[in-house]
Amino acid sequence: MKSKTSLVFAVNGERFELDLSSIDPSTTLIDFLRSKTPFKSVKLGCGEGGCGACIVLLSKYDPILKNVDDFTVSSCLTLLCSIDGCSITTSEGLGNSRVGFHAIHERIAGFHATQCGFCTPGMSVSMFSALLNADKTHPPRSGVSNLTAAEAEKAVSGNLCRCTGYRPLVDACKSFSADVDIEDLGFNSFCSKGELPCYDHSQVCTFPEFLKNEVKSLDDSRKYKWSSPVSISELQSLLGFESGMSVKLVAGNTSTGYYKEEKEKKYDRFVDIRHIPELTLVRRDEKGVELGAAITISKAIETLREEESVLMLAKIASHMEKIASRFVRNTATIGGNIIMAQRKHFPSDLTTILIASKATVKIMSTGSGQEQLTLEEFLQHPPLEAKSVLLSLTIPSQGRSSRAGPEHSEMKHSSMDTHLLFETYRAAPRPLGNALAFLNAAFSAEVSLNETRDGVVVNDCLLVFGAYGTRHAHRARKVEDFLAGKVISDEVLMEAISLLKDEIVPDKGTSNPGYRSSLAVTFLFEFFGSLTTKNWLKGGCKESLKPEAMLSSAQQIVENQEYSPVGKGIVKTGAKLQASGEAVYVDDIPSPENCLYGAFIYSTMSLARIKSIGFKENRVPEGVLGIITYKDIPKGGQNVGTKGFFASDLLFAEEVTHCSGQLIAFLVADSQNLADIAAKLVVIDYDTEGLEDPILSVEEAVKKSSLFEIPPFLRGKPVGDITKGMSEAEHKILGSKISFGSQYFFYMETQTALAVPDEDNCMLVYSSTQAPEYVHRTIAGCLGVPEHNVRVITRRVGGGFGGKVMKSMPVAAACALAASIMQRPVRTYVNRKTDMITSGGRHPMKITYSVGFKSNGKITGLDLEILLDAGLSEDVSPLMPSGIQGAMMKYDWGALSFDVKVCKTNTVSRTSVRAPGDVQGSYIAEAIIEKVASYLSIGVDEIRKVNLHTYESLRLFHNNKAGEPTEYTLPLLWDKLAEFSGFHQRVKLVEEFNASNRWRKRGISRVPAVYAVSMRLTPGRVSVLSDGSIVVEVPGIEIGQGLWTKVKQMVAFSLGLVQCGTTSDELLDKIRVIQADTLSLVQGSVTGGSTTSEASSEAARICCDGLVERLLPVKTGLMEKTGGPVTWDSLISQAYQQSINMSVSNVYTPDISTGYYLNYGVAASEVEVNILTGETTILRTDIIYDCGKSLNPAVDLGQIEGAFVQGLGFFMLEEYLMNSDGLIVTDSTWTYKIPTVDTIPRQFNVEILNSGHHKNRVLSSKASGEPPLLLAASVHCAVRAAVKEAKKQIQTWSNNNQQGIDLTFDLPVPATMPVVKEFCGLDVVEKYLEWNIHQKKNI
Ligand SMILES: Cc1cc2nc3c(=O)[nH]c(=O)nc-3n(C[C@H](O)[C@H](O)[C@H](O)COP(=O)(O)OP(=O)(O)OC[C@H]3O[C@@H](n4cnc5c(N)ncnc54)[C@H](O)[C@@H]3O)c2cc1C
Ligand code: FES
Ligand code: FES
Repeated sequence: MKSKTSLVFAVNGERFELDLSSIDPSTTLIDFLRSKTPFKSVKLGCGEGGCGACIVLLSKYDPILKNVDDFTVSSCLTLLCSIDGCSITTSEGLGNSRVGFHAIHERIAGFHATQCGFCTPGMSVSMFSALLNADKTHPPRSGVSNLTAAEAEKAVSGNLCRCTGYRPLVDACKSFSADVDIEDLGFNSFCSKGELPCYDHSQVCTFPEFLKNEVKSLDDSRKYKWSSPVSISELQSLLGFESGMSVKLVAGNTSTGYYKEEKEKKYDRFVDIRHIPELTLVRRDEKGVELGAAITISKAIETLREEESVLMLAKIASHMEKIASRFVRNTATIGGNIIMAQRKHFPSDLTTILIASKATVKIMSTGSGQEQLTLEEFLQHPPLEAKSVLLSLTIPSQGRSSRAGPEHSEMKHSSMDTHLLFETYRAAPRPLGNALAFLNAAFSAEVSLNETRDGVVVNDCLLVFGAYGTRHAHRARKVEDFLAGKVISDEVLMEAISLLKDEIVPDKGTSNPGYRSSLAVTFLFEFFGSLTTKNWLKGGCKESLKPEAMLSSAQQIVENQEYSPVGKGIVKTGAKLQASGEAVYVDDIPSPENCLYGAFIYSTMSLARIKSIGFKENRVPEGVLGIITYKDIPKGGQNVGTKGFFASDLLFAEEVTHCSGQLIAFLVADSQNLADIAAKLVVIDYDTEGLEDPILSVEEAVKKSSLFEIPPFLRGKPVGDITKGMSEAEHKILGSKISFGSQYFFYMETQTALAVPDEDNCMLVYSSTQAPEYVHRTIAGCLGVPEHNVRVITRRVGGGFGGKVMKSMPVAAACALAASIMQRPVRTYVNRKTDMITSGGRHPMKITYSVGFKSNGKITGLDLEILLDAGLSEDVSPLMPSGIQGAMMKYDWGALSFDVKVCKTNTVSRTSVRAPGDVQGSYIAEAIIEKVASYLSIGVDEIRKVNLHTYESLRLFHNNKAGEPTEYTLPLLWDKLAEFSGFHQRVKLVEEFNASNRWRKRGISRVPAVYAVSMRLTPGRVSVLSDGSIVVEVPGIEIGQGLWTKVKQMVAFSLGLVQCGTTSDELLDKIRVIQADTLSLVQGSVTGGSTTSEASSEAARICCDGLVERLLPVKTGLMEKTGGPVTWDSLISQAYQQSINMSVSNVYTPDISTGYYLNYGVAASEVEVNILTGETTILRTDIIYDCGKSLNPAVDLGQIEGAFVQGLGFFMLEEYLMNSDGLIVTDSTWTYKIPTVDTIPRQFNVEILNSGHHKNRVLSSKASGEPPLLLAASVHCAVRAAVKEAKKQIQTWSNNNQQGIDLTFDLPVPATMPVVKEFCGLDVVEKYLEWNIHQKKNI
């Protein structure tokens, strides 16, 4: 092989050659792709390997075997220098609008599997990789793939999507599988046509021929900062070379996803160890399996799986499949993982399971040569020196299995009755991985049946626990010693557990310590519990395991023909462009020449004087151009960061910062990376002397009267006479409490803007915002220029969920301010951590209520006091009370009194998050209903039914919003849902299940939702160009909700009324909805509140009416002249000849009868809770939702499913936590867990009710964006029902001591695994054993 001096690689078949000496070795692949190539499909979602937005296919050619290895990698963690000789394929490389889309893109579009589209290119690459690898060795049948449906389901398991709810993505992927019938998949645009877009497995060449000849080793490693030694001796010489040099050994580099500070460290040399044969070897012999340290986890899994006969190895492989996600495992090495655990105490899974397998490691140290030691010893050693190398790992052979036991992975008989057991355990928020474990464990034991002692004897065992907040995985030696020689019995287990509880103790400061310790007990019990009977060999004592059900779904949708193409489930506009990655988001706009980049500096103190801001010893890092603070605001401008609905808010803190996360300054540098790194180096000198204590709770705020005014028309209104209502009650619950934490938007595209100064003091700003008009006003106010000097353009937003209304304004304003000061373009793409810390999220709140009710459960009066944590500024908080009350009033409370205090605290300002206030209001209602049901010991469903509104009571509570009696469809939905979900039969099945299962309990719950929306004044413009193509301007922003699609359908329908022989589909193809431009269409207001699509469609329709009015006389004239039919093109041509104005602007103005209405939906969810671990599986959810006459049922279905899954996150998973200074600490994908494909309902059925004519609605349609989010409460309620069953069971074990078992409990939101487990009983195992022991004694 000839050597060379440059990196050569291909991206989408294009050759790239970079001089090695000019590359900063810490450059990541994503940095290169996004800044130096046109391939912008690779998106930055997290920068830490946790989201999948950045993944690409990496292909490597093996010149000896002459084959190509293709796998996905996260480009945010992959170093550019490490791809020498490789080929990269991105989503636009699979296909695109110019050469034709790939079948994956077409199917994603046709299955309606894209919304904001930001995650979609990453999804496409994941799917492609799965298909490619399935079809590589055995070419599939024509048009289908060898990929099984089960594999297809896992293909996107590590990719996050915040919009779709995953179901359609999985269906799109499954559509390639030969074992799937398209009829069994979800709603799509192919069924009606009878065929799927053609799949040709050999269509994409992932490794271009020219590159095969360029696979060469690099020139003398020592010359560059990046070296790739190919032998141990070369490595040794490099490590020994220039002893003062700082050297970093690199394998997959994925550790920088966790240790992000590593990305910022400067090293003299990077040494890539993946080309050294000793580090990539796989050796199998009778002693065991030796794996080179640079073997990837994926490769290790493959290797261990090949050892089929050794079940222990298969167990280890299965456990490894839950480490991170596939695209991380593909580059993450086993050596890297072990070193992270050894040096930095990373909560590793590998080390735990490998210690239990008695693995050894081979180390090469600089001084002492090579040594072999057990992994357990190695972990206890001081941190391995930077220049020492882990060479390999050996898993010793523990013999070949001859008999498999019923419970455990491996049984070996060394003598007739001796068996070796091995098992691994892991409890994490996501079952398929992509989440660190709360606790992992691996146990091996040698046991024998002992007839004389009538049981199973533990001869020897090894019990390892890890990831629970200690420095390293830990062996429970006292328990091991205790168990050795014992016959397993309940009594022995009880003693072992008590020893274990003293041994497995998380270090101080670890989250959920009690839960983690209880998991240790659970795992020990799961391992040994079944051995308490000698029948265990026959499997007689085992509770049936939960079957791994495949995802399934059904959708019932009616496509309305009346206003066609309105009402049809047509494919979303731009869906294929989103899938291929060609859709342009703000950060994809190429940087103008001279562009600078900004990063925010925020406060980490909740109340402090800012004495100074600067760098240590005034050492300004190279490339930093300045730090902008409020002092830099130009004369005439104001320090304003948001100009919204209520009071304005500051852009930057002034002398005093009033909350952690408050913006203090904007650092400007030559690149985004530099700006982000430098912003972290900025030191702020705070001083708290003389300042009062910050207000960090709503109670303190009330005590100090720190409250925001709520305008009278927005205050919650009482209904009826509460005194009378309470006096009519036969029972009362007084002063009960509920509380909620916050929720982060987790849009996949973080906040971003680009500001470009223009002539005459003007400013053009591209902003990812839901409120361009307000961004515009804010910038003008901040710069002190007339509003006509500012232009804000927004084409599309990569997910908003309310977070890009107010919170987008300071981002755009800071860029505009910096651009104005520096007179250069300035952009920022806020990193995930800063975004999470500064953006606020949902309002936390505390509720105290008293409720009165009759013995049949009919509620007569409800008195509520709500303390809402608004944070530092008003934002949209005064709107919250009406949202809360509106959703609460889904039930007839008899009388309702309602007091909300909007508290001003020293925490970051809270804002609107999809269904703001309504989701909490709806849940409060359910929590009260559940409390009443528990109090009366009546079924919750019955209490719900008793309290559903009649039309009369609905009218009393909601006034005009209630509409006509026929519009009140909730009772209909309630009954229909029961019918189509088989609700009542399933309630019985759940009871039966619970009676016969001890450790798994099920719950089922049916929950209604009522959601009030309002329509706003909305302008629009429709123009017809000379070739007949049509351009539409609406103020609504395409945030993934399908607004453009609905508007296009409306325009096609409305202009189709001209009737000139053009089909609606032909017209559809002529229409383009263009970006929002605040100087072109004014008064755009905000995209939010679920009605912008309707309102924008209506505005466009009114404009079209104007055009039709102008065109009809032209048509008549033309027909008279030609005597024949008139085509659209000839009509427009004639209109142009007659100088008719072909552009109409108009505005939709809702009136009192059209301005407000209620939306209805019902959901039933069934869950299964593992009461040993607290894990919840959502077995099934059925939703029925009234969309009126849906404008586009495919789009609305996506909104319903996506909203529901986002709600699921709120109710079950997402904890947005602060420290004692009010600083958000769940600030990454490591700590903040949104739903993934493995956490959605296994069966997910949605029916869109096509309710009749709604004369006051836009073509009879209703909203779908936010209301369905409320229905996710059904999951939480079902979990509570399951937990209640667990509690009841404990009650039966309590040997008549029923103390402390409260069946009227409130289950907190979110009901995370630790919460569920805590409520099922952290000591459930001990309680059971005690009871069992007691029972036996009594026999
Ligand atoms: C999103 C994500 C989720 C994850 N989830 C889990 C999880 O659930 N469970 C789990 O166990 N792990 C998890 N991991 C950790 C993952 O397994 C490790 O990041 C990975 O194995 C490290 O391997 P690497 O090749 O990328 O190491 P690198 O990042 O290249 O190296 C890590 C460190 O080890 C040093 N090093 C590497 N190889 C050697 C060697 N042979 N000798 C001496 N020093 C060496 C490097 O200098 C560096 O300091 C996760 C990682 C990510 C990014
Ligand atoms: S950006 Fe790389 S995984 Fe999220
Ligand atoms: S479509 Fe997946 S994140 Fe928006």
